[in-house]
Amino acid sequence: MTVFDERERDAWAGQASAYAGGFAKLCAHPVPRLLDAVGIGPGTRLLDVGTGTGAVAAAARGRGAAVTAVDAEPDMVERTARTVPDADVRVAVLPSLPFPADSFDAVVGNFVLNHLGRPRAALAALHHVTRPGGRIALTIWSGARGAGQTLLGAAMAAAGVDLALHLPRLEPEEEFPRTEEGFAGILRGAGFADVSCETLRWDHRTDVEEWWSGPAAGVAMIGQAVVRQPPETVAAIRRHLGLLADRFAAPGGGLLLPHTALLAVGRGPRRRPPRGPPPGGGG
Ligand SMILES: C[S@@+](CC[C@H](N)C(=O)[O-])C[C@H]1O[C@@H](n2cnc3c(N)ncnc32)[C@H](O)[C@@H]1O
Repeated sequence: MTVFDERERDAWAGQASAYAGGFAKLCAHPVPRLLDAVGIGPGTRLLDVGTGTGAVAAAARGRGAAVTAVDAEPDMVERTARTVPDADVRVAVLPSLPFPADSFDAVVGNFVLNHLGRPRAALAALHHVTRPGGRIALTIWSGARGAGQTLLGAAMAAAGVDLALHLPRLEPEEEFPRTEEGFAGILRGAGFADVSCETLRWDHRTDVEEWWSGPAAGVAMIGQAVVRQPPETVAAIRRHLGLLADRFAAPGGGLLLPHTALLAVGRGPRRRPPRGPPPGGGG
């Protein structure tokens, strides 16, 4: 496990309920697009990686798919197993997956690849379990961030905290450009065919209390950066968040926070090359 992955494990441990109350609502936006992209319907064998609190798994079950969902965090798995009882929900930590080759017609991961220390190894694992001709669809946050995505970082900066200093970085060889070309490129590099990538933009409706609730509970890396500050700094971040949020005030109350993500879609191998002789010869 990389240092990045260790930090990720800490950032999600025991956070299912805090995630569900805040950031999960933001991440739910692209779910219909993801499922449309892999063309699921009744009986489709679908794998949802990094299922979190199960938004994708639940929607896929709603469309009649046979859903398998995995997450590295047992608290997420426990919650999703409860809320999507007819899905097969398990703990699995990418890039390791406990499934044989070609197990799934469709593979999806909603805001998961951006949480992995070894994204290319994870894509290779996803390629392995996608059946020939099967579909994959993944989202990550775009490098060209929507204005709403900078709100919390700006509140931290106003309180004297440089968020960038608190976020772990991928090893340089694991990085890739968070652009349509860069995201599509690493899917192609993993062997996926017919890859395309598009930018998704939407305004997330929330309010200051809800937007603060996840970070204040330590959800995700940004939340860890908040809760590691002394109490007076946390209070200052919260105060600045309230002030800076004014520019996002929605008519009728609450906030509208512009967000920008990337959706990449591809197809599994046409067919797998025949297996060579087992290692060591055999004759
Ligand atoms: C931003 S949340 C997205 C959850 C969900 N897909 C959704 O749309 O709400 C990221 C999820 O990825 C999981 N995760 C992070 N690293 C992982 C890994 N190496 N293997 C599997 N899951 C991982 C986290 O535990 C967390 O539940």
